[in-house]
Amino acid sequence: MKATTFIEKYLPVLDEAILNAVDQYEQTQPEQLKESMVYSLNTGGKRIRPMLLLATLESLNTDIRLGLNTAIALEYIHTYSLIHDDLPAMDNDDYRRGKLTNHKAFDEATAILAGDSLLTDAFALIANDDYISDNQTKVKLIAELSKAAGSTGMIAGQVMDVDSEGKRIDLLTMQNIHKHKTGELIRYAIFASAQIAQVSKDVAILLDDFAWTYGVAYQIQNDLQEVMWTDEKRGKLNHSDIDLNKSTYPSIMGTNGALTALDDKVNICNDILKQIQEIEPTFDRDLLAGFLKYLKI
Ligand code: IPE
Ligand code: IPE
Ligand code: MG
Ligand code: MG
Repeated sequence: MKATTFIEKYLPVLDEAILNAVDQYEQTQPEQLKESMVYSLNTGGKRIRPMLLLATLESLNTDIRLGLNTAIALEYIHTYSLIHDDLPAMDNDDYRRGKLTNHKAFDEATAILAGDSLLTDAFALIANDDYISDNQTKVKLIAELSKAAGSTGMIAGQVMDVDSEGKRIDLLTMQNIHKHKTGELIRYAIFASAQIAQVSKDVAILLDDFAWTYGVAYQIQNDLQEVMWTDEKRGKLNHSDIDLNKSTYPSIMGTNGALTALDDKVNICNDILKQIQEIEPTFDRDLLAGFLKYLKI
């Protein structure tokens, strides 16, 4: 299937499911907390992580309903990470996706608590999933999501990112930051599908390579957007990387160097997809190849 067809068909389904999931419990949340959660879940995120998860399942000829709740949980955690990332104590951004950041639209306490809620509620979505009947798979999905998002995963990346402000860091250090702060959740999207679809070990290793490479490329693109895109296109008004004197791909290797690095990663991703199809002829390579367009600048 073409990626554009897949996205047209399933993005609205995912959007609706993400909002419905806020009401997963019989009790309702305090009004302002719910509003704040919904605000950030609903302000035009690209949904790349959950869509990658669902598309990987489809490419492996597996019922995507098996991954829907896990995909939503992943988007919850991503959304929380952005709410907290924008806070004054972190990147201090006033705008995201062309709208006020959560703490500006509400207040800091509400933003922190909305983030806490999204993070915590995410795990129940997988635990209570009716589609995945195998409890061992569920436990593995929950454990890996906790690891990917937690103190040795995405949060470790955020810590290193904050620590690197105002310092000159080398390329390897920066790649390590990117691998954690951005790579971990993207890697999880594809790991989760491989787990649900119960792929062979060889395919799992290649999918993992694809996912890590995709994640790093995604962050290179994010860094490049700050220097190449207009504020309007980025949906942000300040340049926190520059203001906070952060090392980024373009600041370390120049814009052209970063563009070349991005191209290299896309080529590597395409090669990996070919290798997967050689092992598993029914694998729909075109679908995931179509997702590489998200990496264009
Ligand atoms: C932004 O992620 C932060 C990164 C980790 C690169 P996205 O660009 O995927 O954010 P949205 O959800 O689409 O706004
Ligand atoms: C955000 O990274 C990464 C996480 C929230 C885990 P950045 O700070 O580089 O991303 P933007 O530019 O705010 O989206
Ligand atoms: Mg940040
Ligand atoms: Mg930021």
